Amino acid sequence: MAEEQQQVFEPPESFVKNAWIKDESVYKEGEDYRSFWAKRAEEMIDWYEKWDETLVEDPPYYKWFVGGKLNASYNCLDRWIEKGKGDKLAYIWEGEDGQVRKFTYKELHKEVNKFANVLKNLGVKKGDVVSIYLPMVPELPIAMLACARIGAPHSVVFAGFSADSLRDRMTDAGAKYVITCDGYFRRGKLIDHKTKTDEGIEGMDVKSIVVRRGGNDVNMKEGRDYWWHELMEKADETCEPEVMDAEDLLFLMYTSGTTGKPKGVMHTTGGYLVGAATTMKWVFDVKDDDVYWCTADVGWITGHSYIVYGPLALGVTSIMYEGTPDYPKPDRWWEIIEKYKVSILYTAPTAIRMCMKKGDEWVNMHDLSSLRLLGSVGEPINPEAWLWYYRVVGKERCPIVDTWWMTETGMHIITPLPGVTKLKPGSATFPFPGIKAEVRDENGVVPPGQKGELVITTPWPAMLRGLYHAHDKYVEEYWSKYGLGKFYTGDGAIIDEDGYFWLLGRVGDVLNVAGHRLGTAEVESALVDHPSVAEAAVVGVPHEIKGQVPFAYVVLRQGYSPSDELKKELIGHVSKLIGPTARPSDILFVDDLPKTRSGKIMRRILKKLASGEEQIGDTTTLQNPEIVDEIHRELKDYLNK
Ligand code: WT7
Repeated sequence: MAEEQQQVFEPPESFVKNAWIKDESVYKEGEDYRSFWAKRAEEMIDWYEKWDETLVEDPPYYKWFVGGKLNASYNCLDRWIEKGKGDKLAYIWEGEDGQVRKFTYKELHKEVNKFANVLKNLGVKKGDVVSIYLPMVPELPIAMLACARIGAPHSVVFAGFSADSLRDRMTDAGAKYVITCDGYFRRGKLIDHKTKTDEGIEGMDVKSIVVRRGGNDVNMKEGRDYWWHELMEKADETCEPEVMDAEDLLFLMYTSGTTGKPKGVMHTTGGYLVGAATTMKWVFDVKDDDVYWCTADVGWITGHSYIVYGPLALGVTSIMYEGTPDYPKPDRWWEIIEKYKVSILYTAPTAIRMCMKKGDEWVNMHDLSSLRLLGSVGEPINPEAWLWYYRVVGKERCPIVDTWWMTETGMHIITPLPGVTKLKPGSATFPFPGIKAEVRDENGVVPPGQKGELVITTPWPAMLRGLYHAHDKYVEEYWSKYGLGKFYTGDGAIIDEDGYFWLLGRVGDVLNVAGHRLGTAEVESALVDHPSVAEAAVVGVPHEIKGQVPFAYVVLRQGYSPSDELKKELIGHVSKLIGPTARPSDILFVDDLPKTRSGKIMRRILKKLASGEEQIGDTTTLQNPEIVDEIHRELKDYLNK
């Protein structure tokens, strides 16, 4: 590493002066995690009834704030109005086309109440799962909060996912309702979302509510499809929030695991809200006059915790932006920051690397002096990108919080506290107060500086409560490798001599493409779904901007031969079945795949080959070692072409 990359960055004095958390005493307080989180639950959240027990540990299941009663939408909306903040902006939404819509807390409250009544009028009851398949429009948080208001768990499906992905998730969740839209804009192009939704719900007994965004012509099916705006016209403006139990399901979020089938991560009401609100306040150090912008899509956990529940539970003003960073020009983000005087920016390394590549001039065209804190999430940030972010975007004034967490954790787990932590570029630093983590391997905790796997050893309030209807899978994925009480994250990590955590990306069969999780098995099953494919193996290869991209090896069935057309068709097939993020960067047609004697595909070897590594390790346990040389040669020819 270059010398500057090993520099340690102290929090600027001016920042420390006003920070919520200024010293390390919170870590001490966190040592008793029960009393620590009980205190946070009192400070951050309004309860209808206080809990009887802070935590009931029954590994692998945990219950937080047992007996406590609350409503998430009340905590996000009503209480701010009651406290006289009703006219404060909750969201400033900017469309890709420059359209702007603003919502004060009062206005957002009104929309949420109305939509909650719309749902009730359509027959949605407490406990019914409602799927939401919307792009980045204000109706997305409105729909989520309306669900929370009436006690109907939501299951948001990222709008970029395919019709099949929607169908699988709705089926698994048993959802009878979906909220979708006509179309939306992506780089100036109108995307027909309704037709995709129709394909997904074809033949299912469901109702759909359609938001008008694109203005494109759509086919509305009588008795199944309803226009959002028509239902809203007639809806009553008050809907009392349902009194929910702390452990009632707030939402499901499907994420990729080691099998082809995505799993429904369960998050409940009380603990999740306490975790999201506490980290929102301490990690982003938000104050009443901040303008906060998290650039994620609400369709992922980052958007759930840090665009919807975290910010609203603290009464924050947030930006919500519909489009991509570089449309129409590479300065779109910096323009938005200048225009709205954004003070906190939370984004992903993949976007930072992309902006870095476009050149400093696009950033420097704008006055970014409103910024005071920067955040990063989704994948490891390389020190070079960290330093660029620090210097060019933050002008060396803004601490960077590199927050490590995952869908299952619901909230930040390993993260700096910006007024306390001395930063090392590329390290997510330390576990949040109240949380303990270790780096282990089969032989136990590994010594400092040595690579192992990250394990979380204390329960935390926003932790997942299970996988929907999949107990065995839940135990197998998280609590088997190192046993009960040691949450297996699936990430490689090192703790250095100073105790700093360095995250090294996913181990095993899950990829991280531009901050999005993708199972290699999902891509493989999409490939073998095509009539020409006999067998497929997918591995992650390094990519300059996206961090990782899928690379596929394909064995064709008899009667098919390799061609560029077929390659294109297969890539298109994956995109159709899963979504564009899953598109393999390339496909290599091979005669066979390296396998162990028991027939297991050796992806470790294929990964090394595709990444251009020369040392591929031991091949003697293979049933067909000769194929390795063959693939090696083929790849070399291919790459030289
Ligand atoms: C995986 C979780 C919750 C964030 C959005 C992705 C990787 C996330 C970091 C970080 C290094 C990170 C991990 C994790 N990851 N943040 N700051 N540094 N890696 O959520 O889809 O559930 O993916 O994202 O590999 O396991 P997700």
